[in-house]
Amino acid sequence: MTAIQTIGLEYVYADGTQALSGVNFEARAGEKVAVLGPNGSGKTTLFYHFNGLIMPAKGEVRIFGENINKTDIDEVRRRVGLVFQESDNQLFAPSVFEDIAFGPRNLRLSHDEVKKRVSYVLHRFDIEAIGKKNPANLSAGQKKRVAIAGVVAMEPDVLVLDEPTSGMDAGGINDTLGILEELNNEGKTIIISTHDSDLAASWADRIYILNKGKVFRSGIPKHIFSDEKLISEAGLRQPVIVQTYREFRARGISKGEVPLSVLDFMESMENIKVMNIRCAIAGCDLKTGDKVSLEIRDGMLVADKGSDGVTGIAMFNGNKGEDIAVKDVVGNLQHHEGKITVIRVPAVIEGGSRAADMEKIYGFLDKNKKQKIGAMGTSAKALMNKMELKCDFEFDVIQSAMLAALRGLDVMVFASGGMADRVVEKVKERKLNCRGFNI
Ligand SMILES: Nc1ncnc2c1ncn2[C@@H]1O[C@H](COP(=O)(O)OP(=O)(O)OP(=O)(O)O)[C@@H](O)[C@H]1O
Ligand SMILES: [Mg+2]
Repeated sequence: MTAIQTIGLEYVYADGTQALSGVNFEARAGEKVAVLGPNGSGKTTLFYHFNGLIMPAKGEVRIFGENINKTDIDEVRRRVGLVFQESDNQLFAPSVFEDIAFGPRNLRLSHDEVKKRVSYVLHRFDIEAIGKKNPANLSAGQKKRVAIAGVVAMEPDVLVLDEPTSGMDAGGINDTLGILEELNNEGKTIIISTHDSDLAASWADRIYILNKGKVFRSGIPKHIFSDEKLISEAGLRQPVIVQTYREFRARGISKGEVPLSVLDFMESMENIKVMNIRCAIAGCDLKTGDKVSLEIRDGMLVADKGSDGVTGIAMFNGNKGEDIAVKDVVGNLQHHEGKITVIRVPAVIEGGSRAADMEKIYGFLDKNKKQKIGAMGTSAKALMNKMELKCDFEFDVIQSAMLAALRGLDVMVFASGGMADRVVEKVKERKLNCRGFNI
């Protein structure tokens, strides 16, 4: 099903600026779509059409198949939530709490439901401490968090966010992307605009590039970013991972499809022996020319004297614990992969962390104290807090877990509700060792 569609959409501002010239756009229900394009290319103007802030003068906008001109505008705004590029255009109430409560109250929800939603987003966006402040007195990044929280609290079917991460710190970006991931997993359609090619490449299911009010190109990230000429003609930057890959490929080190994540990039180099030299930590004092056996311990490659398993030759003297180089490596280190254990934490609607069997979790943890821990989604993160467990990965958890496993570390991923199935599916796609448990 199509969530939002525009057909031949045109828009001219009062001063005669032609901002959109025949835009055909489509976001299917449940998709994550990123719109890229230089300043002034029409992203904001297009987004204003998605919830009826600007009505189409020429062409058509359809919301879940219905022509927006023929749909009740309150219904459109209930289904499509828009976060403005400039937070000052969005925030107006005397306190952060009131601002976030405004939308849900407008939906005529009960007092308790409004309160519940507001406390949820205050917690989720880590803005509880500023709940009583006047939004006008917040920093730019804080304003953005509040503006996004306000729209999330309305629980629309489609979230449209105009440059959601610009001006945010790392924690804000992680919180925002984390919650968008969770909402998308619940079936919501997410549309963002961004100037961040790295983000678009790793995040989006589909990308639209706008240029001078027209769709310059649309497609899946892999196709878009493998076309170097297209990216430069569109006035965009290549993701850093793609630039690095091209350099590696030119030197004969990488091969295959353009990678869009660190994990893909590592795979582009698989089985290619660069110079057959590995960096390792000396497990004991070593001398130049010593035959060593290599092993991954706690994610580090360690060289000890010996001739078992994967072997190599120490290239220079090294004391125990120091970095050394090993040449003529024979054997495959791949079989030292760690395993990934996925623990499904009941989703918030299933009772959340309160419904989790703590004894069972402590049982899992005791068995392997050295493992890394990741948490995805609200109830899993709440459980981590409750158990006072330190999370090693809170963002990009699936990829981080797989990279750690490839380095030989065991990983335990706590994932909320349906997100757990996604993790297991993704890990198995890469043929890594993975088990899933309910708690
Ligand atoms: N209120 C307005 N009146 C006149 N022209 C406008 C108005 N708002 C935007 N424009 C013009 O419309 C065009 C598209 O602007 P828009 O804000 O949609 O671009 P954008 O892609 O969102 O850019 P940015 O990356 O800077 O946010 C630009 O040429 C801009 O100057
Ligand atoms: Mg804009």
